[in-house]
Amino acid sequence: MKTTFIGGGVMGEAIIRGILANGSTMPRDIIASDISPERLSSLKQGYGIETSHNNRHAVETSDVVILAVKPQTLKAIAEELRGGLQPHQLVLSIIAGATIATITNSLGHSAVVRAMPNTPAQIGEGMTVWTASSEVSQSQKEAAQSILVALGKEVYVPDEKYIDMATAVSGSGPAYIFLVMEALIDVAVDIGLPREMAEELVLHTVLGAARLAQQTAKCPKELRENVTSPGGTTEKGLLQLEEGDLRVLLAQAVIAAYEKAKELGS
Ligand SMILES: NC(=O)c1ccc[n+]([C@@H]2O[C@H](COP(=O)([O-])OP(=O)(O)OC[C@H]3O[C@@H](n4cnc5c(N)ncnc54)[C@H](OP(=O)(O)O)[C@@H]3O)[C@@H](O)[C@H]2O)c1
Repeated sequence: MKTTFIGGGVMGEAIIRGILANGSTMPRDIIASDISPERLSSLKQGYGIETSHNNRHAVETSDVVILAVKPQTLKAIAEELRGGLQPHQLVLSIIAGATIATITNSLGHSAVVRAMPNTPAQIGEGMTVWTASSEVSQSQKEAAQSILVALGKEVYVPDEKYIDMATAVSGSGPAYIFLVMEALIDVAVDIGLPREMAEELVLHTVLGAARLAQQTAKCPKELRENVTSPGGTTEKGLLQLEEGDLRVLLAQAVIAAYEKAKELGS
């Protein structure tokens, strides 16, 4: 399966790295097209793939065309690609906020997959939610899945409305967790721990909690109750979080991000 990348930046490279590492694609079947000659030379040297600085030329023989450029670049690349895509080709976009209707209309092409990965995708630990236009065939969906799995876990949704919801939860989610980590590290330093040690404790606490939740398959509520002895330290700490309305704050954050995601796509 020949795959072209329009945009070989952080995410484009993460997908290239992933599909080469899992053996689903050979270097000779990948073309990366990017505006930056330095990016192209780094990708060519790093992965032995073909490169191009001409987007239109790069998509000519591809089965799948991956759009991995910033949202503000979509208009420019659509102008270049318009009329240059064949009906049998699949367009897979990871451009945040660009709806299937926007991509279809701007490219004049109807077989489109829209995916929303998150930043851990850069290390193959991402959470990607994706959907497809009705013109995408079953075999094209399988092709899209085999590409997206290279970024970590992937979930197909039958309705595009879930992409905006996922954007607010898993798309923006790593930043919520980073903020919590930042605050925990700062207070750990305030109470007297050396910063380096505070960073290590917080990082491994978050990692361990996530892995425990994953491996025991217990719900977070049960895991929280298991570590909360009556009259103990955890109970004292949790009481402060509940009294400070952490749940309400998180709800407001996710709803605000969801409203913004819908606004970007409208
Ligand atoms: N990073 C994430 O974790 C993440 C998560 C979810 C979704 N996304 C989405 O993924 C997309 C790509 O993000 P990214 O972080 O990979 O961005 P990025 O690192 O900036 O990569 C985009 C690449 O496209 C190049 N480019 C600019 N104009 C071009 C053109 N006309 N033709 C071909 N290439 C062009 C850029 O070159 P220059 O740098 O020289 O402009 C850059 O190398 C974005 O739409 C973003 O919303 C990213």
